[in-house]
Amino acid sequence: MTRRIEQGVERGSRITIFVDGAPVAAFAGETLATALIASGRIAFRRDGRAALRGLFCNMGTCSECFVQTAVPGRAPRRLRACLTPVADGMAIETGAGPDG
Ligand code: FES
Repeated sequence: MTRRIEQGVERGSRITIFVDGAPVAAFAGETLATALIASGRIAFRRDGRAALRGLFCNMGTCSECFVQTAVPGRAPRRLRACLTPVADGMAIETGAGPDG
């Protein structure tokens, strides 16, 4: 399901990111948060008490939107989804599971 405005909008080139192993359509120039929300995902991670967390301030101050990179052979890094531009082939893990 897409939640994007379709008419009267210009976007960058279409790319694919991987969220919890699943391919997700994104467009160059948008943030991870935009791609996640547009794909219907509202939970970006779980906190220490396993509660779902997601987009809150959308300007890099609250840290609610952290996601983990998931690049084979590399240590995971935490990124703020609201500040991180998508890149083709980027892989992240939310840990949100079916609830997210
Ligand atoms: S939503 Fe607050 S830092 Fe990203």
